[in-house]
Amino acid sequence: MKKQQRVLTGITTSGEPHLGNLVGAILPAISASNQPDTASFLFLADYHSLIKNTDSNLTHASSLEIAACWLACGLDPQKVTFYRQSDIPHIFELAWILSCLTSKGLLNRAHAYKAAIADNEQLGSKDLDKGITMGLFNYPVLMAADILMFNADFVPVGQDQKQHIEMARDIALKFNHHYGELLTPPEAQINEVTGILPGLDGRKMSKSYNNTIPIFADEKVLRKSIMKIQTNSLEPGEPKDPEDCNIFNIYRAIATENEVLDLKKQYEEGIGWGDAKNLLFENLNKFVSPFKIEYEKIMKDKSFVEKVLVEGANKAKEYSSPLIKEIRESVGIKKF
Ligand code: TRP
Repeated sequence: MKKQQRVLTGITTSGEPHLGNLVGAILPAISASNQPDTASFLFLADYHSLIKNTDSNLTHASSLEIAACWLACGLDPQKVTFYRQSDIPHIFELAWILSCLTSKGLLNRAHAYKAAIADNEQLGSKDLDKGITMGLFNYPVLMAADILMFNADFVPVGQDQKQHIEMARDIALKFNHHYGELLTPPEAQINEVTGILPGLDGRKMSKSYNNTIPIFADEKVLRKSIMKIQTNSLEPGEPKDPEDCNIFNIYRAIATENEVLDLKKQYEEGIGWGDAKNLLFENLNKFVSPFKIEYEKIMKDKSFVEKVLVEGANKAKEYSSPLIKEIRESVGIKKF
């Protein structure tokens, strides 16, 4: 029998669930988890949240919201391994081992770190590392540990995370070179359409850019955020280029093929931005409403979510426990 391929992905719990999480990670991961030849590992990257903020209430609330979102969207905890990163201490133990193998130069080249340095440069700060924590600097090592602890073959992520997967590969190969073939070098799986969902300002939709469309907020908030999508200043009646438009690119991620073709035609015919936004709002509202009903039910039952995650952590540890034991021994940490 063909070996099952292992697919793993996580979401940082640093904000309320947004459309980027839904179409970029959650829905594709759930549909992949239904394939018979796939074993899925899906998790809440709650310790990653501490890199982005020190608001403990936010991290805590977001963990529950993101977990409820996965479940509301149809994740079947029986079919996948669904867990909270913080429940698996082996990940953090591995992160230390990996950090001892990772050259600092590799992390100096990480996009997120470089962007933070560039911001300081622009602000004219004398200390280019101002405000940059070791958490941010080490972020790719923790992410590598998330992936390598479960020997994932494939990691579905947005384009912006590709470099992190390549680093995880490098780190795995280095480990294997020194200590024996224990870790699988993972491959990134980038979805061309949904992996680059633009946010309100056209950059990737991300909590870090504060440009997200919250999916479970009430209708008024949803409408308001869609009205904020940035467009060019073409007037109604003027033909418009759909490819170059944030409204269209968001619409494309949630609409059927026919609906997309129809909107394309309307762009050529000069649809006004207000009308295009209204159409997006109506469709998005329709698209998220079945998930929202489930979400609200699940949010009322925290103990159910807790139970699912505890069971998931036990399942995850069935993989990580024997592997960390082998890893520990291979590096020379073992009983006399
Ligand atoms: N860094 C990812 C993000 O912000 C979240 C994440 C953490 C992740 N660990 C991971 C994704 C491991 C895939 C695999 O989007």
